Amino acid sequence: MKKIAIVNGPNLNLLGTREPEIYGNQTFEAYFERLQMKFPNVEFSYFQSNVEGEIINKLHEIGFDFDGIVLNAAGYTHTSVSIADAVKSIKTPVVEVHISNVYAREEFRCKSLIAPNCKGVIVGFGLLGYDLAVEVF
Ligand code: DQA
Repeated sequence: MKKIAIVNGPNLNLLGTREPEIYGNQTFEAYFERLQMKFPNVEFSYFQSNVEGEIINKLHEIGFDFDGIVLNAAGYTHTSVSIADAVKSIKTPVVEVHISNVYAREEFRCKSLIAPNCKGVIVGFGLLGYDLAVEVF
């Protein structure tokens, strides 16, 4: 059984109510149930935090024995040298996911500090991006 972790960063706990015109109406919890049913042969772990250091600690914890990590670092994508360093420091490959098309939004969202340390990036397909990222591993 493959072990895949999903790590979500700040404000993604508010999916479903947060800016639904950008991020949709579904809560991550409801989506995650469907994802687990779609991939019965994957052992999933899910973590969300609004705190940078907690995300780094989680990457260290899961970054050596999981088969893949799907990371949406949310706003930290554009600012966090430390999360980028953490991704570079671990062994498990990371796929960066963004729900929205960050390239069609403000200019500051067009830069990811994390992407160069990732296996690849999936952007702009809504929550389907997480499904696609799972297919990568
Ligand atoms: C996001 C895009 C980021 O720019 C933003 O700060 C988020 C969500 C996305 O999934 O589209 O919080 O990562």
